[in-house]
Amino acid sequence: MLSVVVLISGSGSNLLALLKASENPLYPAKIVAVGSDKDAPGLEHAELYDVDTFIVEPERFSSKQAWAEKLLANVQHHQPDLVVLAGFMRILPADFVAALRGKLINTHPSLLPDFKGAHAVRDALAAGATTTGVTIHFVDEGVDTGEIIAQSKLDILPKESEHALHERIKEIERSLLVRTIEEFAIKQKDLAKA
Ligand code: GRF
Repeated sequence: MLSVVVLISGSGSNLLALLKASENPLYPAKIVAVGSDKDAPGLEHAELYDVDTFIVEPERFSSKQAWAEKLLANVQHHQPDLVVLAGFMRILPADFVAALRGKLINTHPSLLPDFKGAHAVRDALAAGATTTGVTIHFVDEGVDTGEIIAQSKLDILPKESEHALHERIKEIERSLLVRTIEEFAIKQKDLAKA
């Protein structure tokens, strides 16, 4: 069983999809803890599923480095096989990324390498794109630049609002994330056997 720590900053609908999926005994991953940089509404999903939560707020630390070290210590405490950034809206320093290399993934609401950054949906609309989508990728030291694991595409509707488009993206994002983690777990198991 792949043990997973999920980091969030917002409503946690991707987290909820993972929690629901892992209720199925045949799903090969288990969410062992959920962390956040603030008292995010999505933490309630973890509490409902009796999953440990932790909050590490940057404002309480004298530097970004000190904050990231504490966040990493909280993550490592749960000894995860995989750490998932599911709407975690902070850039993590290089040391954090290096400590989790190969087991830190992010979900991003665009077809990378297009529209990196925190406003991917808005930027796709502003650029007049007719298609967009979602990307799940390994995290490296850059912003939304790591190796792509999976993508799913979607047509943008005429005159679609940012909110409406993001909601439709999140629908495909949730199922892609659930499937991608399932495949990651299967691959890890095969590697362990080999
Ligand atoms: C997702 O679209 C994620 O890709 C983006 O923020 C959204 C988080 O949604 N970075 P939720 O908190 O999982 O509902």
